[in-house]
Amino acid sequence: MKDLLTISYRSVSCLRKPADEISSILSESLSRNQRLGITGLLLFDGNFLLQTLEGPPVETKSVYAKIICDLRHTNITLLSTRLIRTRVFPTVTARLRPQVTSEA
Ligand SMILES: Cc1cc2nc3c(=O)[nH]c(=O)nc-3n(C[C@H](O)[C@H](O)[C@H](O)COP(=O)(O)O)c2cc1C
Repeated sequence: MKDLLTISYRSVSCLRKPADEISSILSESLSRNQRLGITGLLLFDGNFLLQTLEGPPVETKSVYAKIICDLRHTNITLLSTRLIRTRVFPTVTARLRPQVTSEA
């Protein structure tokens, strides 16, 4: 099996309407991630964002390069980048703190 790249970062949200904007980030990400073979996890606690991306190295690096230029978050801190054989998050998933969802 080929190696996959996993990248994890933490950032600080600049989202003004978090529930709406997270939904739109997810809808714009889903088809691209699926097309590129990228899966992962996006967590949001109302202030910090934590995302792990995993997929083919070239594609995963290119999506991360777009994400770090996105003005919807700031103070992006790379937590880890490494090659893996097996996905930890085999589906594209996101979790929001319940209060954030109910503020929609
Ligand atoms: C917290 C956060 C996570 C994101 N995650 C992804 C992602 O997993 N996949 C993706 O394609 N875009 C993601 N985006 C959106 C990208 O930053 C970017 O807007 C998108 O790739 C479109 O870029 P383009 O218009 O230059 O093609 C995310 C944005 C933010 C703020």
